[in-house]
Amino acid sequence: MTSIIKYPEKWREGKEQVEWAYQHMPAIKMIYEDYKDVKPFKGYKITLCLHITKETGVFAKTLKDLGAEISLTASNPLSTQDDVAAYLAREGVNVFGWRGESNEEYYQMMHTALDLEPNLVVDDGGDLHSLIHSERRELTVNIFGGTEETTTGVIRLKAMEREGVLQYPVIAVNDTPTKRIFDNKYGSGQSTIDGILRATSILIAGKTVVVAGYGYVGRGVALRARGLGAKVVVTEVDPVKAIEAHLEGFMVMPMSKAAEVGDIFITCTGMRDVIRREHMMRMKDGVILANAGHFNVEINLKDLEDLSVGKERIRKYVDKYMLRDGRKIYLIGEGRLVNLVAAEGHPPDVMMNSFANQLLSLLYIIENRDKLEKRVYQVPREIDEMVARYTLKGWNIEIDELTEDQIRYWESWRL
Ligand code: NAI
Repeated sequence: MTSIIKYPEKWREGKEQVEWAYQHMPAIKMIYEDYKDVKPFKGYKITLCLHITKETGVFAKTLKDLGAEISLTASNPLSTQDDVAAYLAREGVNVFGWRGESNEEYYQMMHTALDLEPNLVVDDGGDLHSLIHSERRELTVNIFGGTEETTTGVIRLKAMEREGVLQYPVIAVNDTPTKRIFDNKYGSGQSTIDGILRATSILIAGKTVVVAGYGYVGRGVALRARGLGAKVVVTEVDPVKAIEAHLEGFMVMPMSKAAEVGDIFITCTGMRDVIRREHMMRMKDGVILANAGHFNVEINLKDLEDLSVGKERIRKYVDKYMLRDGRKIYLIGEGRLVNLVAAEGHPPDVMMNSFANQLLSLLYIIENRDKLEKRVYQVPREIDEMVARYTLKGWNIEIDELTEDQIRYWESWRL
């Protein structure tokens, strides 16, 4: 295979980026050290559909160094870091993607990456799994397992499982605590705010920030916005999450009311049309809209276009929409995940946990390939704990262990 990338000359910057990330991902380094002599992925072909960031660079390179043949394609048309793509291509990873692909090119690159005829597939968002099950079904004879990195992808895979069409076992890496809590909450919390700051350079303190969705991502974003001095409003559809947000001290109200008070709106739901015409009609002049959910469907862009008489790019990642009634609405990153478009995605320290789960889950699939059924599986508990232990070791944090007496106490029930 020959990589298809945009700026091969940028490989040196990419190398520095990947090496920097690697320094902050000690768990990956430890897993590599533990397995390097065995090369457990030797003979396996793996297609990755992930945001092509420096952290993904570390993951892809580690898989390759542990013996796998890799093809890598982007999981969003606007998230690729071209220097990282250039470095990986030079290092023997087959890379297909660049920042700013059209929708058509995005799927075309996914098809090309699949020409590797993989045995294992790693996806972020479910587009790769969906493509295999719709247009590339011939590949399923060779694929004996896959993983999924994000909430939206797991939801789609569970729908496939329910319909009985899933053709290989998939491990829902997203759902395990050492992924979901660290990556979705703390990763998105920091990187979403980072994206908004890099895109706009505005002060967060004193602003009213509306966070739509109080799941893992929303919790992290609300927490960090408050930390910077914002007044945070949460919108939810789940009554339990709404109570949790209320007890955390956030204001909770429906979007129809939040629309009137917010200065910055951040969607974190995985749901479509969370901000739509009726909300845009009520917003103050000059509000900023951003999305942290996987797809660019949370802010209804058609409604925004329909309400506008014109649109102008005023900063690298900010579009100004001029509304018929004279108001302005600013949209960051075309409504795509703001942390990957306008910043660099999650910090390496966080992605270390996600990719450690990915690595160990792929090994688990290889070891158990004859036992696994065509279902969506949770990450085995032992893997989650193993990842946590690697991470603690990497961060030089020690914890206590139960004594024999304590274990007995735990297991006894007699008075
Ligand atoms: P989650 O399931 O924990 O939370 C989503 C929340 O949104 C739920 O509490 C749900 O009740 C709420 N919700 C759904 N529809 C709503 C509506 N119309 N209005 C208000 N609230 C609504 O999911 P999680 O893990 O927080 O992920 C959310 C999205 O972010 C997904 O698309 C996921 O794939 C994506 N994601 C993005 C990341 C990034 O780097 N930007 C990282 C991790 C996840």
